[in-house]
Amino acid sequence: MGSLKNKMAAAKKLGYWKALPLAVEWRLYKWKNKRKPESPVAAGVSEESDERVHQYLRQQEEILQSVLASAAGQSFLEIGIGPEPAIRRVRLMLENQVRYVGCDFQYVCAHHRRILKKQGLMSDNIRFAPNRSGTYAWTLFQMAQRREQFDIIFLDGHHTFYVDFPAFVLADYLLKPGGRLLVDDIEWTLSFLRKNMARSFHDWNFYRRMYDFSQYDEEQQNVSHMKLIVNDVLVERLHYTRVDDASTPYRWLLQKPELRQLEKSLQA
Ligand SMILES: C[S@@+](CC[C@H](N)C(=O)[O-])C[C@H]1O[C@@H](n2cnc3c(N)ncnc32)[C@H](O)[C@@H]1O
Repeated sequence: MGSLKNKMAAAKKLGYWKALPLAVEWRLYKWKNKRKPESPVAAGVSEESDERVHQYLRQQEEILQSVLASAAGQSFLEIGIGPEPAIRRVRLMLENQVRYVGCDFQYVCAHHRRILKKQGLMSDNIRFAPNRSGTYAWTLFQMAQRREQFDIIFLDGHHTFYVDFPAFVLADYLLKPGGRLLVDDIEWTLSFLRKNMARSFHDWNFYRRMYDFSQYDEEQQNVSHMKLIVNDVLVERLHYTRVDDASTPYRWLLQKPELRQLEKSLQA
């Protein structure tokens, strides 16, 4: 029902004639991708019961909210802000005078700004840093050039190697020593998304232009790019530590070492 409503809303927005090729494209995508075999990792995720998955999602949201509740007066950068603003999070940030910057495509940022304005939640503490095309890496690089620094960074964008490898490096430049880095979708794979998109018109319609699956071979589509980069770059090379009691299997909270600690481990 919700999905029919989404389809009708998309059709109305486009004009019904233009919606016809979209409907055909969607059917074709669904037909092609529902049959694709799942990767072991994606299978692992989808084998979890709905209740378990909801439990993780609730727990993750609680962790994020408790991080924000303990961040009074601090700065928070969200890389990838999602289709809709999380209103409870925004209220919490405003109550705690958290200075927020959200990075995403321009049309996504414009949508968030519109909704927050409508709900009377826009404030000087909320800023969007959009990219018109390409990826948020360019925006993050510009922030780093201006020597901007954040206490907390939430990396939850494209979740793929070519987009997020530079984003991780830039997030490290932008994070203060001792700062907290939340990384979402640690177990996520492209083959999981591919299959998931075939289940929901809304997801397919939102993500279809953002992902070019042909950039990665079958094996690379079955591997979690986030986990690979976090383990190899952040943990092994940059000595971030995972905060276990604030992490779930799918979202990790990592702490950047203090400078002295980092220097010590580099000398060792
Ligand atoms: C999973 S959603 C983020 C969810 C959000 N952090 C939340 O907690 O609700 C991923 C976001 O990354 C954005 N994204 C993906 N690729 C991008 C790119 N190349 N440039 C900018 N934003 C991108 C998408 O537009 C989407 O809003």
